[in-house]
Amino acid sequence: MAGQPQPLESYPVSTDSTSSRGSWNSKIGFIFAAAGSAVGLGNIWAFPAKVADNGGAVFLIVYLLCCLIIGFPVMVGELVLGRSTKKNPVGAFKALSNHWFPPLIGFWGVLCGVMILSFYLVVAGWTAGYVLEEAMHFAGQAELAAWFGDLSNGPKNALFSVLFMAATITIITGGVSNGIEKATKAMMPALLVILIVMIGYVLTLPGATDGVAVYLKPNPADLTGSVVFSALGQSFFSLSLGMGCLITYGSYMSRKQNLAESAFYVTMTDFSVAFLAGFLVIPAMFVAQGQGIPIYNDAGNLVAGGQLVFQVLPAMFHSMESGAGVIAGMAFFILLGLAALTSTISLLEVPVAYAVDEHGMSRKKAAIGIGSLIAVFAIIISFHVGLIDLLATSFNDVGLPLGGFMICVFLGYVWKTQNALLELEHGFEGLHTSWFKPVWVVFIRYICPLLIGSVFLATIYGLLTQ
Ligand code: PHE
Repeated sequence: MAGQPQPLESYPVSTDSTSSRGSWNSKIGFIFAAAGSAVGLGNIWAFPAKVADNGGAVFLIVYLLCCLIIGFPVMVGELVLGRSTKKNPVGAFKALSNHWFPPLIGFWGVLCGVMILSFYLVVAGWTAGYVLEEAMHFAGQAELAAWFGDLSNGPKNALFSVLFMAATITIITGGVSNGIEKATKAMMPALLVILIVMIGYVLTLPGATDGVAVYLKPNPADLTGSVVFSALGQSFFSLSLGMGCLITYGSYMSRKQNLAESAFYVTMTDFSVAFLAGFLVIPAMFVAQGQGIPIYNDAGNLVAGGQLVFQVLPAMFHSMESGAGVIAGMAFFILLGLAALTSTISLLEVPVAYAVDEHGMSRKKAAIGIGSLIAVFAIIISFHVGLIDLLATSFNDVGLPLGGFMICVFLGYVWKTQNALLELEHGFEGLHTSWFKPVWVVFIRYICPLLIGSVFLATIYGLLTQ
């Protein structure tokens, strides 16, 4: 019965480790995998650059609000859609409505996923290149170091993005619990340890405290429309929302798990890692400045954008005495590469789940076939890195919040929140007497779509009247 929740018995067994679709082995397995998806280049590459670009502390505050007020409720909604249908994004919308439009929300998600992964692989490849750049620097091989560190070196970019895709395909073909869950459980803690050790190190360097001040002391004059637009897009990108990634990950979840609680852990882990990454990169910029590396551009703004992490930081690492800087540099780029890999897995999982569920393909064939196609896009972008900004603005900043908007409208007015609540209640004891129930409903039906809609309208208005 489309549009209605199915009776409980018609769902696959909730602990369906035997089902061919696969499922998470444990509660914590889902949290690691979803946090692994969320924590990625978005946190460590994009977030500090956006902070530097958008007035420091003010951006941080607006970003936190976007995560809590919009991201978190939408994440709960995506998980509900996935777990109640046990389907990929396209299949999930098909299962819950007879109308032709909702599945398009799923297709939009798959398209955003494919396009984001295409450029994401190139940036992930930069991180691998920089691990070798640091090593070559250490070995005194200046020419090779320059080759590995050149962000617009097409053949090098293509090589590393293809290698990243190969690693992603290998993990995906391992399956949900043996591949994704195991890999992320091993990589996530390593990532946190490297990050914390590096922050401790950078904060001891001269100049770091100036960066801490820029990062934590808000100046209200910095609050502009474009800061809000940028923070909204960043929160969707960083939390992996708006393209059905969490519908897919939710489809592997057990009905014993509390979706709201799990979503909250994932949201807070993701925010915390971004916050920590800012604590590393922004102070590091000021350390670099003390070493004679320019961090303000001609217009007097902090250097930001794609180059920040890849140019200012290595320059800082190189200017440190002895091998310490190079070791710190390698650790940093290994960290960034690990974070990227746990995200590329989730980006590829969406189209793979679609091909498996809707077209009966085997997991392996789907991963290799779709993965290779995306690798071809990544090779093209490797030679035209200028496309990255354009793709990021179109698909992250516009595409994902648009997907989130449609998901809210679907949940609130098509499938209806009372049906979503019937799913949410599994694993959430006391939902009906909890404050969470009315608050979530109001956010999904009114607050989230209104906020996303107004940020969009204000941005379009701003562009037209510029
Ligand atoms: N959240 C990931 C990051 O921050 C990127 C991503 C976006 C992953 C959308 C999956 C879906 O790097």
